[in-house]
Amino acid sequence: MRVLLMVFSVCAAAAVAGAQPPAPPAPAASTLDFEFFRTRVQPIFLAKRPGHARCITCHRTGTPRLIELKDGQTMWDEAQSRRNFEVWQRVVVPGDPEASRLLMHPLAKSAGGDVFHGGGRHWDSKADPEWQTLAAWVRTGTPAATTTQGSGLDFDVYRSRIEPIFLKERAPNEGAGMCIGCHARIATRLRLQPLSPGATTWTEAQSRQNFEVVQRVVVPGDPAASPLAIHPLATAAGGDAQHTGGKFWTSADHPEYQAVVTWIRSAAANPAAAARPAPTLDFAFFRERVQPIFLAKRPGHARCITCHRTGTPRLIELPAGQATWDEAQSRQNFEVWRRVVVPGDPEASRLLMHPLAKSVGGDVFHGGGRHWDSKSDPEWQTLAAWVRGETITRSSR
Ligand code: HEC
Ligand code: HEC
Ligand code: HEC
Repeated sequence: MRVLLMVFSVCAAAAVAGAQPPAPPAPAASTLDFEFFRTRVQPIFLAKRPGHARCITCHRTGTPRLIELKDGQTMWDEAQSRRNFEVWQRVVVPGDPEASRLLMHPLAKSAGGDVFHGGGRHWDSKADPEWQTLAAWVRTGTPAATTTQGSGLDFDVYRSRIEPIFLKERAPNEGAGMCIGCHARIATRLRLQPLSPGATTWTEAQSRQNFEVVQRVVVPGDPAASPLAIHPLATAAGGDAQHTGGKFWTSADHPEYQAVVTWIRSAAANPAAAARPAPTLDFAFFRERVQPIFLAKRPGHARCITCHRTGTPRLIELPAGQATWDEAQSRQNFEVWRRVVVPGDPEASRLLMHPLAKSVGGDVFHGGGRHWDSKSDPEWQTLAAWVRGETITRSSR
């Protein structure tokens, strides 16, 4: 009977999920961590969640398949775990939890989950500890498209020469402190892994994650176009105008700057690895959909405008009796607030990550508190749509 049910669900799914992309081919040699899978992922397949059958109940016969446990056996042995690992790594995209069916299939649709799962929704939100564990596992893998080979940037040089820069203790007059002090805590494209408790450096897996992230602020072959080189460099020495974290290198002779430049130059310019063009932020979308969020009242919180009409980033003060900003005022707001977002990248944008709960990835501190508990909050989603370049009228383009 159950077999029949499975077959039926699978057919239904095939029809419903027709628009989904096909399974990515299994990587030749997985970079995903097997031990992590064995000890932390597998227990999730066996756990009981109220209102749901266990994953194993269906998946010992359905796909992706889990090895059936013999009577009295409470966990898979090493060889069985290897077989589970081979099968289940095919439903994840190494490095990218949100592209992984393992995470998105059983996730509530309201939190971004896939359109259909024959087994129901086991997690209401990405903040669920099980979801987070699976995400951590997926992140142990290296994304295929951005491996060392893809960008031409050398991982070993990165690990031995570049990464120590982020961990170096700084003198009082040297920038605004250790790079990691801010860059593991605040949303920017350079979002480094926090160090594990007690650790003084990153593990190889963490370094690989950092490496992926650092590539987003590097243009292979072109130091002058790479924020990693010009952001911490003094303007007078060829750096860009401003870095919130301060200027660390007063001259181009600084050994850290030299190490960064040598590393970036050693990678041939590679158009395929060049950053995707960032989307344009739509002013009308900002005026109509983003600005109301600055004025809205959320229980337990002051409105954004209450603090930000005097603090930075600044919002124009509304004259008494005026319910919203006029065109010119909206333009001024737009110019200021676009500076706290990274077009195309909501999770690197302080506008979204500063007021977001820390448990779901928000920045370490916001003077104004946490206005959103989850990224599925409709306001957060609206801001994300703006950052991704959504426009207010499709016909206007
Ligand atoms: C009540 C039975 C049932 C339970 C319980 C169940 N599943 Fe499923 N699952 C299915 C069926 C049926 C399919 C195939 C149809 C589909 O894609 O939804 C499926 C498909 C999947 C897929 C997609 C496979 C692919 O190739 O696209 C993943 C991933 C998945 N399940 C993971 C899980 C996880 C993880 C759990 C436990 C948290 C779980 N399932 C619990 C029945 C179940
Ligand atoms: C006091 C906090 C702080 C410190 C310390 C700090 N930064 Fe930053 N950094 C920021 C903030 C905030 C931003 C985003 C705003 C900006 O670009 O100024 C940023 C942006 C950057 C960017 C561009 C990121 C992007 O999204 O484009 C790079 C690259 C960078 N920092 C490198 C470094 C390096 C290297 C160090 C250490 C030598 C460092 N930072 C130290 C706060 C800091
Ligand atoms: C109770 C006062 C208060 C409220 C309400 C408030 N903020 Fe803030 N906000 C601050 C303070 C103080 C800072 C500066 C310190 C910091 O970075 O947290 C700040 C900083 C920020 C920053 C970082 C700016 C930067 O350059 O790094 C952003 C983005 C931000 N707020 C967005 C918002 C949004 C959006 C809302 C409404 C959802 C909001 N704030 C509500 C007080 C507030």
